[in-house]
Amino acid sequence: MRTQRIDYLKHKFGYNNKNLLLKWVLTIFFFGLAFKLVFFHPLSQEISPVVLEHVAQNEDQLSHTNTGEGKCDYLRGDWVPNPSGPLYTNESCSFIQPYQNCLKNGRPDREFLYWKWAPRDCDLPPFDAHKFLNAMRNKTWAVIGDSISRNHVQSLLCMLSTAAQPIVVYHDELNKSQRWHFSSYNFTLSVIWSPFLVEAVTFEDLNGEPTSEVELYLDKVDSKWKDHYLNFDYIIISCGKWFLRSAIYYENGIIQGCHSCPKRNLTELEFTFAYRKAIKSVLNFIVSSDHKGSIFYRTFTPDHFENGEWSSGGTCKRTEPAKEGEMEIKYLNMMLREIELEEVGKAVDEASRNGVNLKLVDLVPLSLLRPDGHPGPYREFQPFANKDQNAKVQNDCLHWCLPGPIDSWNDILLEMILKGHMIN
Ligand SMILES: *[C@@H]1O[C@H](CO)[C@@H](O)[C@H](O)[C@H]1NC(C)=O
Ligand SMILES: *[C@@H]1O[C@H](CO)[C@@H](O)[C@H](O)[C@H]1NC(C)=O
Ligand SMILES: *[C@@H]1O[C@H](CO)[C@@H](O)[C@H](O)[C@H]1NC(C)=O
Ligand SMILES: *[C@@H]1O[C@H](CO)[C@@H](O)[C@H](O)[C@H]1NC(C)=O
Ligand SMILES: *[C@@H]1O[C@H](CO)[C@@H](O)[C@H](O)[C@H]1NC(C)=O
Repeated sequence: MRTQRIDYLKHKFGYNNKNLLLKWVLTIFFFGLAFKLVFFHPLSQEISPVVLEHVAQNEDQLSHTNTGEGKCDYLRGDWVPNPSGPLYTNESCSFIQPYQNCLKNGRPDREFLYWKWAPRDCDLPPFDAHKFLNAMRNKTWAVIGDSISRNHVQSLLCMLSTAAQPIVVYHDELNKSQRWHFSSYNFTLSVIWSPFLVEAVTFEDLNGEPTSEVELYLDKVDSKWKDHYLNFDYIIISCGKWFLRSAIYYENGIIQGCHSCPKRNLTELEFTFAYRKAIKSVLNFIVSSDHKGSIFYRTFTPDHFENGEWSSGGTCKRTEPAKEGEMEIKYLNMMLREIELEEVGKAVDEASRNGVNLKLVDLVPLSLLRPDGHPGPYREFQPFANKDQNAKVQNDCLHWCLPGPIDSWNDILLEMILKGHMIN
């Protein structure tokens, strides 16, 4: 199967089979990984042996999570060639923000556009914007979270705008939260900026660089989304990497400790402490609310920085998807996902007892297989103009190019909704 796919691509794009080299590189990479994690990983000081052991035990869960419903698991599948390519382009969609407009910014390769997600046990038809909008007449959606949520909403807007153009009916000062209305369908789509999902006070300079620790109120759900919660028919909620920031943690208005704050005379706590507490608060609120719509808790998305991280020269140069098992999930990402799977797993059962429609959408395994889908250096327009191709420029291996793999998230969500995984 895989061989066929490679042949297909070779035929289509005429590149050489780099498999042997790749295998060799990967072997070295995996050998190096254990060593690197223990000795060089910037987070290794923060990871206790107990957590490491726990993560190792759960590693085999990564391939997929069970829906436990006896229905098709849309999240268990493969990336397969898709000769027809994406539904939209950088020319046809005006919602792509510059940092993710990889084609416009000069990304030279195109293979990453010609793949689609194919569940193993069922069909996943291509996204049909008319079908989506018809199913969503008079409905409102809210996508709540950080910049990945915005990335996701822009992908959805691009796909929907193949059928109808929305108008902006609300935006905050920096357009971090926005709302669009598709008038011919009376469909409303909101993106709500709430990177911690709980109340947070952040301190940043004009470039968005932190100037002081975040003040994080772990037991207070962010009123930005909480206050409008019952108005949304469909909610996709998630969080992630912001929890790695230096922060002071509050509960009941009292400081519990802080993370990565050597200058403060406070108890140092791991970010996983805050991640779990915040998610618990959010889920408690969801589970005990009177919400009659559908709530999808989306797991965070893993990054694909290699040979460094965001701030230490990491890059993502791959141009095709990885095979299952080929990409090692980083410890950090593994830990975030573990916490989410545990806490959301518990909450889903409790929610159903309360008549609340909560579902876990674990996109980590399928996202992990797309190291080729990030802007890399092409987060900026023509990053190598007047420089040589090996010049050091900031890479983005966390957000996704549009069009790109994240478009498949919408294929999956639409099908899950239409097939009654979530009955509204
Ligand atoms: C779209 O991308 C192409 C390069 O693939 C570029 O030439 C063109 O200017 C871009 N157009 C827009 C509107 O971004
Ligand atoms: C949408 O709302 C309008 C006005 O309330 C109503 O006439 C129409 O039947 C609704 N359509 C659907 C599909 O619910
Ligand atoms: C649009 O949908 C909202 C619910 O989201 C409903 O209250 C309103 O009546 C609908 N308007 C029309 C014109 O159908
Ligand atoms: C925010 O979005 C609006 C509407 O799309 C646009 O007119 C405005 O320039 C944007 N503002 C910023 C700061 O990007
Ligand atoms: C740090 O806090 C402890 C306990 O509150 C206190 O005894 C100590 O004096 C503090 N140290 C400094 C340098 O403020």
